[in-house]
Formats: sequence, C-alpha cells, structure tokens
Amino acid sequence: MMNWNSRSLAAIWHPCTQMKGHEEIPLLAIKRGKGAFLYDHQDKAYLDSISSWWTNLFGHANPSINQAITDQLNELEHVMLAGMTHEPAILLSEQLSALTQNNLGHAFYGSDGASAVEIALKMSFHYWRNLGKVKKTQFVCLANSYHGETLGALSVTDIPIFSDTYSELLRSKILAPSPDLRLIQEHQSEEEFTLQTILKLEEILSAQHSTIAALIIEPMVQCATGMAMHSSTYLKSVRGLCDKYQILLIADEIAVGFGRTGTFFASEHADIWPDLMTLSKGLTGGYLPLSVVLSRDKIYQAFYSNQTSHGFLHSHSYTGNPLACRSALATLELFKTLGTLQQNCILARQLRRAFDWAQADSRLEHFRQLGTILAFDVKKDLATPYFSKLFFAKALEKGLLIRPIGNTVYVMPPYILTEKDCLFLGSTVQICLDEILR
Ligand SMILES: Cc1ncc(COP(=O)(O)O)c(C=O)c1O
Repeated sequence: MMNWNSRSLAAIWHPCTQMKGHEEIPLLAIKRGKGAFLYDHQDKAYLDSISSWWTNLFGHANPSINQAITDQLNELEHVMLAGMTHEPAILLSEQLSALTQNNLGHAFYGSDGASAVEIALKMSFHYWRNLGKVKKTQFVCLANSYHGETLGALSVTDIPIFSDTYSELLRSKILAPSPDLRLIQEHQSEEEFTLQTILKLEEILSAQHSTIAALIIEPMVQCATGMAMHSSTYLKSVRGLCDKYQILLIADEIAVGFGRTGTFFASEHADIWPDLMTLSKGLTGGYLPLSVVLSRDKIYQAFYSNQTSHGFLHSHSYTGNPLACRSALATLELFKTLGTLQQNCILARQLRRAFDWAQADSRLEHFRQLGTILAFDVKKDLATPYFSKLFFAKALEKGLLIRPIGNTVYVMPPYILTEKDCLFLGSTVQICLDEILR
C-alpha cells in the first residue's frame, strides 16, 4: 500500500468537491477494477452500482475492450482528424449512424460530454445563421436540467448549486416547465399533468420561436436532476412542437443512451429522432474520454459551402482519438454478442426484485425505474442536508459505491451485474438506510 500524506492528496483538486469535506470523509484510493467491482489497496471490494459516473457498461477490465485497445495501441495511438482520417473513426461513425437508422448520419467528435453539448449548441446557432435566420440565437432547456459545466453547457443547466456562482458569465436561457412526474398534483392524472406541461411549453415556443435556435432535452430521464422521469408522450410532443415552430431538437443522450433506459437510445421510447444527438459516457464502455454529436443531413448540408466561414470551424486536439474510437467499437460489438438489450430486461427485473422492499417502505417515496435506472426519494423531513454524504460513506464501509443526489437514492449499474450482485445491492442499500435514518 502506498503511503499518502495530506500534501500528496491535495496535489489533486477533485471534481465537484469542496475539498475541505475530505477532512471528515477521507478519499478512497482505488487500485484496480474487475467486472462490476473496484478494489482498494487492501483489496477490499466495492460494487460499482453507479458505473463510475454512469460510464462503465460492461465492467472494469473487460477482456474484449482491453484487447481492442491493446491491438489499436500497437497500430496507431493518435492522429489529428483535420485533413486526416482513420479506420476506427470511420467504422464508428457508420455504426452510430446505422443505430439511428441513418437519420443522424454525420458524426462530429469531441472529448467529453460538455464539449459535445457545446458543439450541439454552436452548431444549431450556426445552422440558422447559415440559412440567413440570424435572430434565432436562443436556447430552451427544461427546468432543473443538467447538460454539463463548461460555460455554454452551464447556460442550459438549471441546477443553482452549479450555475448560480457563474451567472454573470452565462447566456440567458428560456426555461420550460419541468415534466418531472414527481410534480403531479394530488388531483391530477399523469396524462393531465403531461398535457399541462406540453401546453405551457407550446405557449413559450409560439411566442418566441423566431428567436429560438434549439431546444435541448435529456430524453425520458433527467439524470443529474435526481433521476427525474417524464412520459414518452411529453417527448413525442416536444418533437412535434419543434417541427411546428422550426426549432432544432437536441437530444442529450450522454447519460441515457447506450441501452440505459431499455431502448438503445432513450429517444426511441417516443419513436422520434432529434436533429442533433449528443453521446459520451457509455460510448467507450467507460474506458476513454470521447463524445460525439450526431446530426441530420439537413444540418450537415447547411454547412457544406464554398465559404470557409460557413463551415463548422470547431476542433479539439484529441477529436476522434483512435484508441477511444476502437474502445467504442468494442463496446458496440459487446451489445451484439451479449444480446445486451434483451439481457437488460432481465437485469431490470432482477433489480426491481432486489428493491421490492423499497416500494413498501414508508420512509421513501416516488419509487421509479426505467430500464436499468432505479431510484427513489427519502422523504424530505427525514433526509438531513448531509444525507447524501453520510449515505455514501456508510455504503463504502459496506463495500458499495453509490452516491445519492440530494435525497434521491439511485442505482445505475454496469450491465454485467449478476442476480447475486443485485441482491447484495438491494440489501446493502436497505441496511445503510436503516442505520442512517435510525
Ligand atoms: C445529460 C448530461 N449531459 C452532459 C454531461 C456532461 O458530461 P461530462 O461530465 O462528460 O462533461 C453530463 C454529465 O453527467 C450529463 O449527465
């Protein structure tokens, strides 16, 4: 075991963290990963129930992905993607296009989720500009949405703890009312609530469409909001309204894509395709940073011109890195060889059974599940402001990596979880709750 002192620990400024908090809860150093488990330096195992920030689909140190990256490493580690191309990026772009039934046939690569959101925002703004509609400059996003933390992405994020401090740096946004099904009033049905949210959205779009470039939405589940789920009717209506009012639809599938919600892309629940789709996280199976924006042909064509300034002059040095693309190709291959979408139906049922107790637990509310995302809320009067931190620390003690969002406890595990793992997960969450809420 390596010996770290407080200075060597402070050498890293950790993400999304008030570093002083680690005076009470020490950082956990991970040495290795295997399958659904991470291991510390004493070889204690932790079940990775949140797929390491929703990235890892087929487990840590997956032999097929390891092999694919090793093979690629021996051939070509990196080459710039301007003026050059390479097989892994070509194959990946073709396969992603095929997965959208060729509705989104042009892949523009970035490095991480936020850079994909930046690309989608810039592209939609520039699209209208190239068409001569220079007034279409604004973006609509949903109340409580999260799309990343660079300045553009933060401008369409509505989570005060992340955005308020930087408000002077951010563009103003148009907020649409949240379709979060937890907001249904006592007297309302799900259909009435959804219709009400759609009508309010239409009011906004009909009044301001001449200045709106795009609407960005995380289809079916707003994850960082606290696994807020909405109905597919809402999503379908959003597509209809964007068509009606000539607004581009950006589906941010960074967290919900790649089979997470039961269909390959979450947009498929509503049988729609967006104009632009952002992907990252599970794209490389959780191995390497890579993101991509898939676009419709009409958008690509609007940039295709003799004028340089009509082109999309955006780049990142590691755009389309061959190792990351090869890792993504190996991930897509696993979907086929393992029959992942079918297997995930079984996993979803196993998870539900493992959390049966939670549906009947009077301390909890809003039990919900879509595919392999399962969540519930601890009633507000029971959850202290420290609930999330305490739960995280307690679960680690018991060999479980889980990070509640506020009072929302959720799991979003790798797809290779066994039934035994599910049972361990369900019972450990229950024990942690019992100990914390005692
Ligand atoms: C829906 C969504 N969009 C964008 C992002 C930003 O991705 P990244 O953290 O890779 O920048 C995230 C990250 O959690 C996300 O969940």
